[in-house]
Amino acid sequence: MIAVEGGHGLRGELTVQGAKNSVLPILAAAILCRDVSVIENCPRLEDVDASAAILRHLGCRVRWVGEDLEVDSSGLSRWDIPDGLMRRMRSSVIFLGAILARCGRAALSYPGGCELGPRPIDLHLTALRTLGAHIEERGGQLRCRGERLRGTEIVLSLPSVGATENAMLAACGADGVTVISNAAREPEIMDLQAFLRKMGASVRGAGTSTVIVEGGRPLHGCRHRCIGDRIAAATYLSAVAATGGEITLRGVDYRYLSTVTTALSQAGCRISSDEQHIRLRSTGRLRGVCPIRTSPHPGFPTDAQAVFMAALLRSQGTTVFVENIFQNRYRHVAELQRMGANIRLEGRVAVVCGVERLCGATVRCTDLRGGAALVLAGLQADGVTQVEEIHHIKRGYSDLTGDLARLGAKIQEIEA
Ligand code: UD1
Repeated sequence: MIAVEGGHGLRGELTVQGAKNSVLPILAAAILCRDVSVIENCPRLEDVDASAAILRHLGCRVRWVGEDLEVDSSGLSRWDIPDGLMRRMRSSVIFLGAILARCGRAALSYPGGCELGPRPIDLHLTALRTLGAHIEERGGQLRCRGERLRGTEIVLSLPSVGATENAMLAACGADGVTVISNAAREPEIMDLQAFLRKMGASVRGAGTSTVIVEGGRPLHGCRHRCIGDRIAAATYLSAVAATGGEITLRGVDYRYLSTVTTALSQAGCRISSDEQHIRLRSTGRLRGVCPIRTSPHPGFPTDAQAVFMAALLRSQGTTVFVENIFQNRYRHVAELQRMGANIRLEGRVAVVCGVERLCGATVRCTDLRGGAALVLAGLQADGVTQVEEIHHIKRGYSDLTGDLARLGAKIQEIEA
């Protein structure tokens, strides 16, 4: 459980952790070669532990060397992932394309039920089938064969991040050229491309909606430093915006955060950024902003919706949120209401009317970012807030409590 006493301003500097959403596909990509790869700046997260458990099950050697994670995939000997490991992390499906490219076959189960609403994998499967994989779906199990994948054109019906990554990984093992159209443009896809290139793959176009992979090249291990986590950065910026104070963030590219920083400026924060840092100053008295519509990159990230909403709970005026990516991404709202937040919810729309005060309460994390939003609400509430079920937060933040404490928050983690 996290206990947080509200009402204290935050001040200081932080270096942002490595990006969860970069490191997970990169760890899957590490099995494309039979060699040692080192991921520098790898965040210590539950989801990284889950990926490491999958890699070890497959026969890889995985070990931490300081802040770096070393993966030796030379001994990979299996192509299956058991149900228990698949369910530990929703993005485990990202291993499908990589196992198929390395082994020519794969057997795994569906990544399990979902916290953000249904999370289908039809686009992943269609992409792999287009490359020539034969996939049987039976009783929640997927059996895939694809000894001879062939480069081709894959048109995604929507720019899914995971499907783009799975297609890129499988295409590295296919003969010939694959063109992925309507690809997701997230910075983490550019980071995956950077890693694959260091391994010797021919991949270009990441960051645009067309990614081109020339498959069949021999790949080798490499060292790669993954990019900073823009969602963790958005979380800390939102925290300081809400409490008032000043923060300097390092280790994250400000260009990947422009929709979030624009919204924070509109809310009344003063922000400056350059290649080295992002600095935010806030009086803690924010105003409502123009509607926030989540959309694929470079739009407002769905992953930042909950923490930005938390920042506006005591703002002057009203802000409308429209969640366009996931169907069930407002589960934190009921918990925030327990703390006195005024939020009306209708389908994909949430209307936040700022209130004068929030009151500390016992609340429960419903998902990763929603959990962080509860902590942010606690930072501004009267009295003490107890946030339960914090394993959700640990999936994606290496040390949320410690980072906020270093900024001056009265916050601690208490063993249940
Ligand atoms: C990734 C991120 C997650 C982020 C999300 C959207 C990782 C590890 N996770 O998740 O943090 O919230 O992008 O930015 O990088 N869809 C389908 N069929 C599919 C695949 C997706 O209909 O086969 C739909 C999803 O239900 C959702 C939308 O497409 O509505 C976007 O999902 P997607 O971009 O695939 O998200 P993830 O890769 O799961």
